[in-house]
Amino acid sequence: MSFYVTTPIYYVNAAPHLGHAYSTIAADVLARHMRQRGEDVFFLTGTDEHGEPVALAAEREGVTPQELVDRNAPRFKELMPRLNVSNDFFIRTSDPEHQAASQKVLALIRDNGHVYEGVYEGWYCPRCADFKTDAEAGDDNLCPIHRTALTREKEDNYFFRLSAFQDDLLRLYDEQPDFVMPRHRYNEARSFIESGLQDVSLSRSTFTWGVPVPWDPEHVFYVWFEALLNYYTALSYAKPGEDLTERFWPAQFHIIGKDILKFHTVFWPAMLLAAGLPLPEHVFVHGFLLMREEGKTDAGADSELKKMSKSMGNVLDPFQIIDEFGTDALRFYCMRDVGFGQDGEVSTARFAMRYESELANDFGNLASRTVAMIHRYRGGDVPSSQPDPELVAEIDAAVPEVCALLDRADLTGALEAIWVRVRRLNRYVEEQAPWVLAKDEARAEELDRVLASLAEGLRVVAVALHPWIPESTGRLLATLGAPQLELEGARMQAGRLGAISKLEPLFPKHR
Ligand code: MSP
Repeated sequence: MSFYVTTPIYYVNAAPHLGHAYSTIAADVLARHMRQRGEDVFFLTGTDEHGEPVALAAEREGVTPQELVDRNAPRFKELMPRLNVSNDFFIRTSDPEHQAASQKVLALIRDNGHVYEGVYEGWYCPRCADFKTDAEAGDDNLCPIHRTALTREKEDNYFFRLSAFQDDLLRLYDEQPDFVMPRHRYNEARSFIESGLQDVSLSRSTFTWGVPVPWDPEHVFYVWFEALLNYYTALSYAKPGEDLTERFWPAQFHIIGKDILKFHTVFWPAMLLAAGLPLPEHVFVHGFLLMREEGKTDAGADSELKKMSKSMGNVLDPFQIIDEFGTDALRFYCMRDVGFGQDGEVSTARFAMRYESELANDFGNLASRTVAMIHRYRGGDVPSSQPDPELVAEIDAAVPEVCALLDRADLTGALEAIWVRVRRLNRYVEEQAPWVLAKDEARAEELDRVLASLAEGLRVVAVALHPWIPESTGRLLATLGAPQLELEGARMQAGRLGAISKLEPLFPKHR
């Protein structure tokens, strides 16, 4: 089966930060896992290059918008290999192919009678690239997110008849209760729709940095409509000489942050309905990684947790974490410490704690000890004994559990399900005490069984863990002489492993 997963496309007006890495790592875990299940996977990420946020940043820096995007887009593109992310394509919305393909769909929406000309008058936040209602503007006319002044806009626009899709959207929500996940985000999106939908601007005429409206050169498309279409247009040109649309559309998962819920759970399905295109299966809405403001360490009333973002100035640099601790440590921490779908605090102290106690101790030590004992007691050959049936039952049950959890994009739950097994294997070492068995020749068979069980258990766990920490599990599996990643083979088997090599510590304690 085909499996298409996307990240949001990132604004190129500033440097990549942990928030961007977060959405991307999450989508990568899903993509890697589905490949292990033998699915035909396509994984898309990229950059959002039009609209006011970019035009304003270019103006501030005294360059043209094109110069700015050409300078900044590579920083996002380079982020992907540094995060060890396995995207199949990187879309830039300034790609001429995207521009042409998005114009086609938007013209189709107009041909289908869902577009009309009018005058927009109201509040607008140039930093969100979002129109604000009077209620959102409040008495002070400030953006509720950025706390900066909203502008009063009055301009000729083409409008998208969003209001006409209210009933269709409610029907979609009734029929597909997992269209938006997790549940509290479904409820939020649904009540937004129920509260009544107003038509929205589809184009801007006071502004030129965008995709031209083909039927009226005085206008460019409102950036959100064109940007959302990236998920669809990318398939038409990602692979030279081949159109992948049939093979991969509709997407199984759009992974997004909660700040862009309205666009993905209301505007996007309405647009696709208007164009007569199939809808994605799931929009998974994750929360925010939050950081305490610098200098405030106590949990007093004023130590407010802030969303980590470029506009707030409290950026935690993913590159720095990678340089110091490696890619896997960052990937693991992001998916482990904050429940995927919830908001949660992140900090360097918590990072260090997870690294030491879980990656270095629980997993790294288990791997080192197991490999070292096989060398010390059996000259580096894994005995071919039948593994302990009790352990087999517990370890093997991890894989179907992980599959079921990841079908719902429960990335933290699935990681915990594997970690339960990592801990189980550590307990097994303590219970069986191979170093005691090794002292007694009469217990050689027992020792064989324990070592075989540990090596196979470790292999199965490493295969299941691979999507989260691909670098270190890849190294461990190579050491075990069993690099295969297919989940089908992730069951403990006798005689599966033979000679193994030496292993450098997976997560060294002091760097
Ligand atoms: N360009 C739009 C998305 C268009 S998709 C058709 C955009 N870009 S963004 O660069 O501002 O943000 C991209 C993603 O990063 C969003 O999903 C956002 O939620 C996420 N994050 C930004 N800061 C974040 C945190 N502090 N924590 C977690 N993710 C957050 O929006």
